[in-house]
Order: sequence, then C-alpha cells, then structure tokens
Amino acid sequence: MACGSDTPFDLGIIGGGQLGRMLALAAIPLGIRCLVLDPDSNCSAASVAEVINGPLDSADHLRRLIECSRVTTFEIEHTNPHFLRTLESEGNRILPAPSLLGLVADKLRQKRHFAEKGLPVPAILAEDVAGPSPYAVPVIQKARFGGYDGRGVARVEPGAEFPLPGKTFVEEAIPIEVELAVLVARNTAGEVRHWDPVEMVFDPRLNLVSSVVTPARVPAGTAARAIDLARGVAESLAPLGLAGVLAVELFMDTAGYLWVNEVAPRPHNSGHLTIESSRCSQFEQHLRAVLGLPLGDTTSMSEAAMVNLVGPDRCEPGRYTVGGRAEACAVPDVHIHLYGKRAVRPGRKMGHVTARAPSAEEALHRARLAAGALTFDTGIEGENA
Ligand SMILES: Nc1ncnc2c1ncn2[C@@H]1O[C@H](COP(=O)(O)OP(=O)(O)O)[C@@H](O)[C@H]1O
Ligand SMILES: [Mg+2]
Repeated sequence: MACGSDTPFDLGIIGGGQLGRMLALAAIPLGIRCLVLDPDSNCSAASVAEVINGPLDSADHLRRLIECSRVTTFEIEHTNPHFLRTLESEGNRILPAPSLLGLVADKLRQKRHFAEKGLPVPAILAEDVAGPSPYAVPVIQKARFGGYDGRGVARVEPGAEFPLPGKTFVEEAIPIEVELAVLVARNTAGEVRHWDPVEMVFDPRLNLVSSVVTPARVPAGTAARAIDLARGVAESLAPLGLAGVLAVELFMDTAGYLWVNEVAPRPHNSGHLTIESSRCSQFEQHLRAVLGLPLGDTTSMSEAAMVNLVGPDRCEPGRYTVGGRAEACAVPDVHIHLYGKRAVRPGRKMGHVTARAPSAEEALHRARLAAGALTFDTGIEGENA
C-alpha cells in the first residue's frame, strides 16, 4: 500500500483477528481510521478496516504499517518487540510501548517483575525442565513464549513427564476456586480507570474461557482486593510505557486468597461484555487511551454474561453457514457478535454472545440459551457470516 505522508491512518493495529475487528468497529463512530496488519487478507478485521497482508513479525510489513499510522497498537502480543523498539526509537508512536510488550511476551520475566514489586504470584519452582516431575504435588509447566488459550500450559502430576519442549518454567499449582479478571485502562496522560471484576468460567477440555460473568460472584472484600491488585499491577507497568487496556487475570484460591496469574496489555476476551454492560467498552477505551483522549466512564450498567461461540468438535474445517439466528435473537436482551471468519475449525473462536439480565445467573442462562441455538454448519453451499 502506498501511504503518502498526507494520508496516514489514525491507528495501526498489529493483528486483524476478532480483537482487531472489534477495535476497528468501535473506531468507526469516532471517525478513527484503522489499518491492520494480518497474514490473512480475509481476516476478521478486513470487513471494517484496511489490511496490509503479511506476517506479524516481519520488519518490512511492520514498518509499512507503523509509518502509515499516527499511532500503532496491537491485538496480539506475538509480534517482534525487538524490531518495534527500533521503529519506536526512530520516532514512531507505538502503544503500549514495545519494552512493555517485551516484558509481557515472556511469561517468566513478567512473573518475576510482579514478584519483585511485591505482588502475589504463584512461586516459580524451576526453569527449562525435562524428564519426570520430581515434585510430590501437581505443578504447572508453562511455555515462556507464544502460549495462549491454554496452549503452552500443562498440569503435571508427580512422576509424570514434563510435556512442553523449549523454554519453559514450572510454577506452584494453585487450588483455584474462581478465576477473575480485572480490566484497567491507562491513557497517555496517566489517567487510570478500572471495570468491575469479572468471573471467568473455563472449558477444561478446550482450555478456553467459555463464559464470563459480571459482576464476579465473590465477596465484596475479595472484589475490592482484586481491584487493588489490578491497579497495583498497572502502576508497576506504567514506567514501562503502559497505555491502553490491561487485562489482569487473577485466581481466588479455596482459602479466598488472591493471586496474580498473568496480564495482557490489550483488549481481552474477559472484557467483551463491556460492549453492552458498561458505559464505555474496553474497545472504545483502548482507542481513547492510546490516542491521547480522555478515558470513558467504566460504570457498569447491568449484570451481564458472555458465552464464546467456538467451532464444534467434530466439524469439517472449512466454510460454513450460521444457523439458529432466529432462536438466538428471540432470547431477551441478547447481543450476537460473529467474527466473520472465513473458515470454521474445531475449537476456533467464531464469535460470542452477551446477555444482560437483572441477575448474573439469569444473564448467564440467557447467554447460554442463545449460544446453544447458534450453529456453524459445514458442507452446505452458501455464504458465510
Ligand atoms: N499456577 C497455576 N495453578 C493452577 N492453575 C493454573 C496455574 N496457572 C495457570 N493455570 C490454569 O491454566 C489456565 C491458562 O494459564 P495462563 O497462564 O493464563 O495461560 P494462557 O496464556 O493460555 O491464558 C489458567 O486460566 C488456569 O486455569
Ligand atoms: Mg490466561
């Protein structure tokens, strides 16, 4: 793409998946023009933003994206922090800063950073292990780089082989009662806001967040402590160039104690429901934060629940049609978000459904009802979503 100096985009986004798509969607009413970089020219964001087609870690492609954009952000951490630092040193604006991205992309460095700041993280037991686990209790082995959606995390029983190759570390296994997330936003002026803690319900088989509920069903004191911890995490990252939305994942253990698990310096699956549950969504907030605008109001407007829509177990990967829209739309106060992916695969995130209701339980019930009605059918000729 030829990009003259008089026609820059307002925002470059590294990655054009569903997060890039929802960022670009939130940008439209604000008149913010987005350009995304993605290896797939038919990526989710392609229908709402212009696309540079290329690998996320390619120096040439990153340079083109960034030089065409007033500010560049990302929807995925797996890019090239080293080269981004070079582009930043040449005067390009990349937010959150590449040095923060570098820290977060290495789960071990990230964890050590939080431990040094006195934040409660599970104990790190070893690095680069192989062979049978010598521990008398189950432990968690994690890939340092590149893991997501549970790929790169393994629970290892005493005596069992450590399954993950490459650079990994081992940490203490926490007896988790509830998984929580607190989203925090920090803008370039240093203003910070948070949303109410949400509860994340995992699909143990797919290792994906299957549903999210707001507010989290935990004691008020626990919610307040979760907010304090998340703001503490954000504060610890501010000197490294935090701007935008930061998702802080936490565990509440069976004794009610909170642990910081990991962070993502970008919009996050746990915040999709803010589109309908909050005055300002995580996507609009991220735009505001990185573009130097005042932050929006994060006040919650309703109890809500989100259910992810994933490709069915036994589907034939490929093109698909969406079924069940009428049944899903018949559920009260339900909001369907399909990501426009060209192909369905087992376990692939295809969309999500959010429902609002007077109680969190009713919201979850409604969201599950609508999600259960929607299908991704293959083997039928027709158009995609
Ligand atoms: N120390 C731990 N103890 C118990 N369970 C853990 C621990 N670390 C991770 N898990 C489980 O594995 C899931 C994925 O781990 P996480 O570090 O968040 O990786 P990902 O980047 O894939 O989200 C967590 O949401 C949690 O369910
Ligand atoms: Mg996680």
